[in-house]
Amino acid sequence: MAKPMFLRKLKNRFFFAMAKVIAGKAKGQYMAFVGKASCARLCDRIVELGHTSVLVVTDKALRDLGLADEAVAGLNRDGVTLTWYDQVDPDPTYAHVEAGARILRESGATAIVAVGGGSSIDCAKVIALRKYSDGDMTKWPGMGNSPDEAAPLFVIPTTSGTGSEATMGAVITNQTTHKKEIIGGEAIHPKAVALDACLMVGLPKPITAATGIDALTHGIEAYISTWERGNRTEMGRISVQGVFRWLRLACDEPGNMDAREGMALAAYNAGVAINQVNVGNVHAIAHQLGANFGVPHGHANALVLPHVLTLYGETAVERLAELAVATGVSDSGHPETRARAFITEVEQLIADVGIAPTDARIKRDAFDAIAEAAMDEGDGYFCPRQLEKSEILNVLEAISE
Ligand SMILES: [Fe+2]
Repeated sequence: MAKPMFLRKLKNRFFFAMAKVIAGKAKGQYMAFVGKASCARLCDRIVELGHTSVLVVTDKALRDLGLADEAVAGLNRDGVTLTWYDQVDPDPTYAHVEAGARILRESGATAIVAVGGGSSIDCAKVIALRKYSDGDMTKWPGMGNSPDEAAPLFVIPTTSGTGSEATMGAVITNQTTHKKEIIGGEAIHPKAVALDACLMVGLPKPITAATGIDALTHGIEAYISTWERGNRTEMGRISVQGVFRWLRLACDEPGNMDAREGMALAAYNAGVAINQVNVGNVHAIAHQLGANFGVPHGHANALVLPHVLTLYGETAVERLAELAVATGVSDSGHPETRARAFITEVEQLIADVGIAPTDARIKRDAFDAIAEAAMDEGDGYFCPRQLEKSEILNVLEAISE
C-alpha cells in the first residue's frame, strides 16, 4: 500500500532540511590531474604530503594486466613502501573492506590509492574509514553516520561513469542482507584524482556505453535538481555536453584518446555535480533493477532515463530546454519543444551506443515491491517532482519485454 502523497512530501521536506544542515559542514579542497602524466603527478603529490607508506586498493584483473602497477609506478622510489590489497570484487562487501583494512593496519600505511572502477574506489573509501574505527560498519550507511576521520584517499579511475572519484559516497553490499548500502561523509572524499585516458582504452564497448550513460544520468539529474547549490548547474551542463560530444566516439573508436579523456572529464564533472545535490528518480528506479534483476547500474539508468524525463513534464521543461541549447540539439521553438527534442536525442544516444530500450531480465512479478522501494528512495532526493506509484509501474512495464 503506497503512502499518501502528503506524507511523502513531508518526508521529502525533512530530508531536504537535513541535507542542507549536513551540506553546510562540508569544507574540503580537492585536486584533479588530467592527461598523460597525471598518474605521475598524483604520486608526486602523495609524496609531497609526506606519505612514505601507501596501500594500493585494486582488483585482480587490473593487477594481472599490469595496469595497476603502471598507474602507481611513480611511487616506486626510495623511501616509499607500497602494500597491495588486490582482491576487490564487483559489488564489494563489508568482508572485502575488513580484509583490506587488516592489510592497511598491518602495513602501517598512512594513505590509500584506489586504482579501478567504482567497486575498488568505494571499497577503498570504507577501508580508509576503518583505519581509525573498530565500530560496527553496518551502522555507517546514510549521510553523516560514519566516522569523521579516515586515511587520506587518492584515486586513479579506470572507467568513466560512476563519478565515485569525485564524491563523498561509497556503495557497499551487506553480505548478510544482500542489499547495497550507501555510506556518505566528507572524510571519504578523495583528496586528489588522476584522470589518465591511457588506462581506459581497453574498456569493452558495452561497459564504455553503460558507464557513459551513468555519467550522463548524473549530469542531467544534478542539472534538474531543485536544490540550488554550489556549481552543480555548471558541472552538470559541462558533463552532459561532454557525454554528447564524446560517448559515441569512445564506443566506436576505443583507442581514441581524445574521446576517452573527454569521457573521463565528463564523468568526473558529473561526479562533482551529484556530490553537491545527489541523484534523482532515475537512480531510485535503476537501483531496484540492479538489486532485483542484476541489471548493471549504467544499463539500468539507460532503460529508465528517457521515461522519467518525460514523466517530469512541465516541472523540468525549462531545465531540459536549456540542456537542448547547451548540447546543440535545439535552439529554437517553445521550451516544451526543445525539452522534447533533448529527450529524443538522449534516446537516440542510448540506442547509438548499443543499449536496447527493453530488457528481458526485468520480471513483472516483482513490480509492486520495486515501485514501493523506488518511491521510498526517490522521496530522499530533490527532483522536479515526486513520482506516483502508477507512473513507476508504467515505466517498469515499458522497459520489460
Ligand atoms: Fe549512477
